[in-house]
Amino acid sequence: MASSVSLCSPTTIERMLLLFLILCITHAATAVEPAGDLAAGGDGLGLGFSRMFCIGDSVADTGNLATVNPNGSFNMLPYGETFFGHPTGRFSDGRLTVDFLAERLGLPFLTAFLRGKTAEDFRHGANFAVAGATALSLKFFKEMGLNITNIPPYSLDVQMQWFHGMLHSLASTDKERKEIMSESLFLMGEIGANDYGYLFAQNRSFINEIKPLVPKVTMKIENAIKVLMTLGAKTIIIPGIFPAGCLPRYLEMYQSMLSPEDYDAFGCIKWMNDFSEYRNYALKCMLHQIPRNPTVTILYADYYTTVLELIRHPVMHGFKRETVLVPCYTDGNLCPNPSTYISWDGQHLTEAAYKFVAHHMLHGAFAQSSMCSK
Ligand SMILES: *[C@@H]1O[C@H](CO)[C@@H](O)[C@H](O)[C@H]1NC(C)=O
Ligand SMILES: *[C@@H]1O[C@H](CO)[C@@H](O)[C@H](O)[C@H]1NC(C)=O
Ligand SMILES: *[C@@H]1O[C@H](CO)[C@@H](O)[C@H](O)[C@H]1NC(C)=O
Repeated sequence: MASSVSLCSPTTIERMLLLFLILCITHAATAVEPAGDLAAGGDGLGLGFSRMFCIGDSVADTGNLATVNPNGSFNMLPYGETFFGHPTGRFSDGRLTVDFLAERLGLPFLTAFLRGKTAEDFRHGANFAVAGATALSLKFFKEMGLNITNIPPYSLDVQMQWFHGMLHSLASTDKERKEIMSESLFLMGEIGANDYGYLFAQNRSFINEIKPLVPKVTMKIENAIKVLMTLGAKTIIIPGIFPAGCLPRYLEMYQSMLSPEDYDAFGCIKWMNDFSEYRNYALKCMLHQIPRNPTVTILYADYYTTVLELIRHPVMHGFKRETVLVPCYTDGNLCPNPSTYISWDGQHLTEAAYKFVAHHMLHGAFAQSSMCSK
């Protein structure tokens, strides 16, 4: 019983190690771990993943919002300048964590769902993430009386529907669909940060409205994971959210209302980071308790701790200390060297920071945070 609900069952660890092994081998040049660790893998995952599917928001959107909103500022230079040399709809100067993950798996960058035209475009998977997307439905926010003008109507449920449609277009029998599911890696997130973000932006009560949203958002994500498992998914990665109290967007938003004791030693807003931890804790506990078949691996990717590590020890990782909490691109001004900045535009990270997040995820951040603990 215990092993079927534990994230740390031997099967899980074997699978984690093998995932780690595959990822390290495909990118040996950048591996941080000593070669000795690579020998520890089991054989549960076979030859890796033939496909990857991603659900989420702007942290993973590789062009969906840009397809419906081509004139958005995020679809113009300098967005995309570092890696692609042109805007791609990614909310960064270059690649995102999902892109680095695809590279490690030996897959091409995932086609944004709204950009693809034929099944061939999705041979290696698809990316359903849409910037601004929420876990809860648009209807939910409308009923709360929120101004929903700026909330894109592509919540988690909508993305899951897209996925269903795609699965049926890729395979006609139940057996083939199960096969596709079991050979695919699912990256579910991050998703849910915007649910709180819209409420913060519209001055909703933290105690009465924002904090009580946590169980609802968590349950929504839980339901989506259960649907994927029912369809036959075997490997699902669920990232937590970033430390919101260190995002320039929130630092600016609350600047006038905060006093010195509201900040931690690194200049981040303490209560806001506490809230991020609280949300991630709820997510971890849900993942810990979700009933599942022992052949299923659910991995929590600790984006929170990874970004805090960058903020606390920037120089060690090649970033500039003075601009740890300053966006590279702000009010039309671009910094000289985005690779030394963590924040790209105040809300999203630079390619350099996303690369660090991806590497950290592949090199062990799963294991440390798989427990239902703070
Ligand atoms: C985007 O801008 C172009 C050129 O100004 C315009 O023709 C087009 O209608 C706009 N598209 C949308 C979706 O707003
Ligand atoms: C809702 O938000 C939009 C976009 O920010 C704004 O133009 C509009 O005036 C707002 N509507 C109301 C009723 O506040
Ligand atoms: C939110 O509240 C702050 C301070 O109470 C105020 O300065 C700001 O204009 C409000 N914003 C909105 C969107 O109502």
